[in-house]
Order: sequence, then structure tokens, then C-alpha cells
Amino acid sequence: MQIIETIADMRAWRRGAGRVAFVPTMGNLHDGHLSLVRAARERGDAVVVSIFVNRLQFGQGEDFGAYPRTFEEDCAKLEAEGVDVVFHPDEHELYPRIKQDFNVEPPHIQSELCGAFRPGHFRGVATVVTKLFNIVAPDVACFGKKDYQQLFVIRAMVDDLNIPVEVVPVDTGRAEDGLALSSRNAYLTEQERAEAPRLYRNLSAIRAALEAGDSDYADLEAAARADLEGHGWQVDYVEVRDAATLEIAHAGAHRLVVLAAARLGRTRLIDNVEATR
Ligand code: PAJ
Repeated sequence: MQIIETIADMRAWRRGAGRVAFVPTMGNLHDGHLSLVRAARERGDAVVVSIFVNRLQFGQGEDFGAYPRTFEEDCAKLEAEGVDVVFHPDEHELYPRIKQDFNVEPPHIQSELCGAFRPGHFRGVATVVTKLFNIVAPDVACFGKKDYQQLFVIRAMVDDLNIPVEVVPVDTGRAEDGLALSSRNAYLTEQERAEAPRLYRNLSAIRAALEAGDSDYADLEAAARADLEGHGWQVDYVEVRDAATLEIAHAGAHRLVVLAAARLGRTRLIDNVEATR
């Protein structure tokens, strides 16, 4: 496995590679990330994983500084998965002028759901993913459904800007009790970790109700919010949306997604489930 730190070296390597499958990450890798790596391996001759904690997508007061950086352990996991290249640029390499003057501006969806609570987040994601695509020039890139809105933004961007990359969605990896795997789970205290699966339980209950034909979305959202708030959570949102457009779902919609973000102590957790009927 090669570790590549510069854009020039990444481009030189890429010229000799065949079909490249790419997994962008911020590191601190867990089994959810590794399922993306496995999906990538099935789709390319070579797999590139990037590890870069992207300051541009963190808001003021968010956890950019505290974000867990575990490069050595990450590399050991990636090597065991048969990854060909880890692209690990430093900040100066990706943002030489410190300030990124040109940015990729997602449409109105960037101000909804998580975007309403994290202004500028999806601009930061779209911008760094565009830069990484331009550097790695992959044929395929894998993204997790865990970050459903991010996946939506990337797919829309690739479509609208004719970026020649096939975006592959990968199912959410979960702990046995249902909690979606996330680097941020490491922030949870033991007590919070025991409480954390309540988020997925509520989303699953909404999915069951939707699949049984319930279309009173507001009622379902309010019940989940009340249950979470009753157990010490601060809820940013629980929303039923149309899975294809991420717009507010109408009562007859067939493919839905229930998305939520809520905080337990200082840790913000997100999750979602799809429902079909
Ligand atoms: P990061 O949070 O490290 O996630 C990297 C990729 O792993 C994303 O596509 C994310 O959706 C996926 N992922 C995370 N947890 C997962 C889980 N439990 N199951 C399946 N996939 C999971 O997302 C980012 O980094 C950044 O925003 C990035 C795209 C790298 C741009 O900076």
C-alpha cells in the first residue's frame, strides 16, 4: 500500500492505474468506512482512500480541532483490506492559500435538514469532494447512506456539473444494538452510549408505521421527537422526506426516507432509514 501526500504524486500514480475506485474519508476509520472500501474493491482495479479532515466543512464551535486523528491505525486497517493507495495531503497541499476562493455552492438543499444547523457545511463538502475528484480522477466513488443528505448533494453535483464519476451508495453499517457507526460515537460517555440506540429505534418505528400505510408524517415526527426529548436528547430535526428528491414528502409518496439529527450531551448524532410502500 502506498501513502501519497502530494497532488503531483497522486496524479502521476493515477496515470498508470486502470479503473480507479475511490473512497473519500476524514479518517478514524470504523467498519462502516471499511464496507465502503469493500464496495470500492468490487468496482475498480485499484482502490484509493483519502484521509483528510476538511476544515472547510466544520462550522465555528464545531469539533474540527477535536476530530479524532488516528492515521497509523487507519493505515493498518486499509492495508488489511488490500487498499492500493492512501491519499493523505496536509492542509497546505489542498488549501495553499488558506482561504478557498472558489467554492462549489449546492442549491437550496444545503440550507435544509443538517444544513439548517450547520451553515456552510455542504458547501465545504461539495468543494473538497470536487477537489479530490479532480486530483484522484476516479471512475467510481463510494459514499455511505449514513450521510444521506451528503450523498444526495454529491449525486446532484456530479449530475449537474457532468463530473465523470459514478457515485455508488453503500448501506449504513451499525453496531449490534442498531447505533449507526460513526467517528463521533467515540465522544459518548458510557451512559450516553447505552442511550444512543434510541435514535435508530425511533426511526425504525416510523419506518414500520409508514410501511403499514400511515401518512401522518407530522404526527410520527412529533412522537419521535417527544420520546427523544423525554430521554435527555436535544433534537435538531426528525423529518420524513421523499427519498428521491429529499423534498417534503406528499401523502402518497412511495419511496421515503426518515432523517434525524439529535444531540446527546455534546455529541451530535445523525441517522436515517429508508421506507418503501
Ligand atoms: P467521513 O465522516 O469520514 O465519512 C466517509 C464516508 O464514510 C462517507 O461516505 C460516509 O457516509 C461513510 N460512512 C460513515 N459512517 C458510515 C456508516 N456507519 N456506514 C456506512 N458508511 C459510513 O463524510 C465524510 O467523511 C466527509 O464529509 C467527506 C465526504 C470525506 C468530505 O470531507
